[in-house]
Amino acid sequence: MCGIVGYVGDRSALPILIEGMERLEYRGYDSAGVAVVNGDMTVARKAGRLSELEAELEGRDLPGLLGIGHTRWATHGAPTDENAHPHRDCSGKIALVHNGIIENHDVLKARLVGEGHTFMSETDTEVAAHLIESILQERSCSLLEAVLEAVNVLEGAFALVCINSDDPDRIIVARQEPPIIVGAADGVGLVASDIPALLAHTRDVIPLDNRQVAEVSRGSVRVFDFAGEEVTVEPVHVEWNMEAAEKGGYEDFMLKEIFEQPDVVRDTLRGRVDREGRVKLDEVHWDDETLRRISKVVVVACGTSFHSGMAAKHSIEHYTRIPVELDLASEFRYRDPVLDETCLVIGIAQSGETADTLAAIRFAKEMGAKVVAITNVVGSSITRDADAVLFTHAGPEIGVAATKTFLAQLVALNLFALYLAQQRQSMDPAKTAETLTALQALPEQVEEVLRSQGEVHRAAKRYADASDVIFIGRGVGTAVALEGALKLKEISYIHAEGYPAGELKHGAIALLEPGVPVVAVLTGAKLYDKMLANIEEVRARGADTILVAPQGDERARALANELFEVPVTKPLLSPILDTVPLQLFAYFIAKERGLSPDKPRNLAKSVTVE
Ligand code: AGP
Repeated sequence: MCGIVGYVGDRSALPILIEGMERLEYRGYDSAGVAVVNGDMTVARKAGRLSELEAELEGRDLPGLLGIGHTRWATHGAPTDENAHPHRDCSGKIALVHNGIIENHDVLKARLVGEGHTFMSETDTEVAAHLIESILQERSCSLLEAVLEAVNVLEGAFALVCINSDDPDRIIVARQEPPIIVGAADGVGLVASDIPALLAHTRDVIPLDNRQVAEVSRGSVRVFDFAGEEVTVEPVHVEWNMEAAEKGGYEDFMLKEIFEQPDVVRDTLRGRVDREGRVKLDEVHWDDETLRRISKVVVVACGTSFHSGMAAKHSIEHYTRIPVELDLASEFRYRDPVLDETCLVIGIAQSGETADTLAAIRFAKEMGAKVVAITNVVGSSITRDADAVLFTHAGPEIGVAATKTFLAQLVALNLFALYLAQQRQSMDPAKTAETLTALQALPEQVEEVLRSQGEVHRAAKRYADASDVIFIGRGVGTAVALEGALKLKEISYIHAEGYPAGELKHGAIALLEPGVPVVAVLTGAKLYDKMLANIEEVRARGADTILVAPQGDERARALANELFEVPVTKPLLSPILDTVPLQLFAYFIAKERGLSPDKPRNLAKSVTVE
């Protein structure tokens, strides 16, 4: 989710680059940089917010009519000046910015170092700059030809934007997965990772298709496929205003982020399953002996992150047979927990800044436990306090209500659980491979669930005036029920509670009456019949039932006032699919009630106080 801009024209590039990067501010960043050509290549990079870079450039004149800029959302390498983009080759003549993950960067880096290239950063991106330099040296070809060769060597996801001070009239752009948009108007050439950065210059833009390369020059764009064949492309005319463009045309960031979830699941899996069907978590550096000595796992988190931890407890215990305790971070250190060096504490915090969770893992470390953090923000506090970090690659989440980061956490936690089982040899490798196959099918399955948003929207209209809603589930479905209740209460302000379905008869069932809808999460084969019995129980008390159930489940249909069908996956992975209709349900109800889902009252995106 980095922000990329590029300009070639007849005006000074720097102010245009900075203005474009400011337009991409909503994409979040932890560092920023520019490269401008005026005979030589001049690069300025700074960790921190864009204003840090602007301060750095204050009073400096960076003339030049060609340039590229980048606001970084770190995935590899901490947010430092050295790791900020643009990255250059050894000659300093090539500068390049990148969004995505180059999966074979380590293999290529070893080869290029062997050829004598000197690297200045720990990023995967820099590899591309040296690779292009290497090709230019070997073939003395054009930058376009060198990039066309390079993109057939690089593996993974990349939106690359590259310039060469020896060829100051063009920008070469390549896309394999992450979006990148080009445009040309009135003698200028433009590049951006998202439309808002282009709207000030043109409304006629060309979003590159996957596996395309573009040569952008003054007033002209040529597009090629990765085989080097030129393709004809027609610009699209953008009617959006600036705010709509930042939300990608969605009405709210929360809805945009719900619809980003297939890519988020894909990106969190990327590079973490090898060709042999094994989990590859390079970021978890403990040796197998250390992992085998783990006697207990404790999960500490708050809010939505607590719910992903609740689901993960089932996965970790099932795959590894290690007992798992689950604590709200705000409670954990006050209960005098039993911890020692054989305990592994998992701190989950998408922001990486939640005070309760930070305090909990610091306490755990003082007690001698090992700590692994699951977080979405590179460079956040939790990454400095933990012994190991597993990043979710969800990109910045603007909406206060956590959605895509929740699904990313579930994916990362299941990968981690499978990794523990694999390294401790506590699970049949065939079962691991089978589960990984199910994980890799999830992005398309999430897309399928999102296509049913119309049914969810209709149900939301029907129940938008409810004053109380009960959510129930069993097993991992309980975590989904609690998360669905939290989503609804935090953005629609309706009183909503999540309960283990088996617990209803111990009190909460007294709440049920006509007009109190019950949302039931009906998944997980071995608990299915018991859930059906609970649904019959609540219907007998006059409650409407809104069911999340596997596709084609006719028994569920017969018991549903509203039915949200989801594709079938492995029971332990079902929260990744079952949660999506409940996110939409909460969102559409909030909209029906005229509320702003992105900025709910009383709440902050990151709770940095205890
Ligand atoms: C979830 O929608 C809320 N925004 C809130 O409960 C959040 O999950 C909680 O504050 C924890 O945040 P963290 O993941 O950054 O620690």
